[in-house]
Amino acid sequence: MDQRSVSVFPPWRRVVQAEAISWLNAHRAEPGTSIITSLPDVSEVPPHRFDEWRAWFINAARTVIRWLPGDGVAIFYQSDIRFEGRWVDKGYLVMRAAEEEGAELGWHKIVCRRPPGNIAPGRPSYSHMICVAPKIGAAPSRPGPDVLPDAGHMSWSRAMGEVACRVACRFLRDETATRLVVDPFCGEGSILAMANAFGLAAIGIDLSGKRCKAALQQVIQAP
Ligand SMILES: C[S@@+](CC[C@H](N)C(=O)[O-])C[C@H]1O[C@@H](n2cnc3c(N)ncnc32)[C@H](O)[C@@H]1O
Repeated sequence: MDQRSVSVFPPWRRVVQAEAISWLNAHRAEPGTSIITSLPDVSEVPPHRFDEWRAWFINAARTVIRWLPGDGVAIFYQSDIRFEGRWVDKGYLVMRAAEEEGAELGWHKIVCRRPPGNIAPGRPSYSHMICVAPKIGAAPSRPGPDVLPDAGHMSWSRAMGEVACRVACRFLRDETATRLVVDPFCGEGSILAMANAFGLAAIGIDLSGKRCKAALQQVIQAP
């Protein structure tokens, strides 16, 4: 396991090259920890058989939710796919995992990846951003829009857009007890960089050494 961190000034960031589920199973979440993440698509997870990926996805989402401390929340950012003609609703898969873990739904936002009204022949033109928790205490004191018209800048094709990262991190800072954000599938670290910009510490995990390196370096200006 390769582990690197930048900690010259708070809030700190640590990036670990590891398998996410094993890492979660080996580490206990402290109070004040929340997760923001995008679980990988079928094309990113071997074995590539669709039904195996689907079962893996639900189990991975369940592990993420189960790992949370009592005061933590999990925010999933997932884009649906079309697979051999079938529409695969990842929002449903996340909600199914939440229900199986007895977790509650705090909110569900739609994030447009293309302007509404456009025809998207490939991937659907929106993503789900879904917040679940073991216990939802109250509605947000300052609720934001349910539909975000633009995901914002993406550092690579599978990145979580900057606007979506900002909305998720602002919610954690302003509406929860979160001090540490963990992204177990951190990619190039958009969430880690945004969490730091909001004054929150961050831990990222990813299988790819190249993306771990990028995740340590990514900087997003304070909002
Ligand atoms: C959808 S991308 C995440 C993108 C990220 N949110 C960003 O903004 O860059 C999923 C990431 O999961 C990683 N990954 C796939 N399987 C993994 C596993 N079992 N454990 C840890 N990381 C994994 C991939 O390398 C990829 O970077």
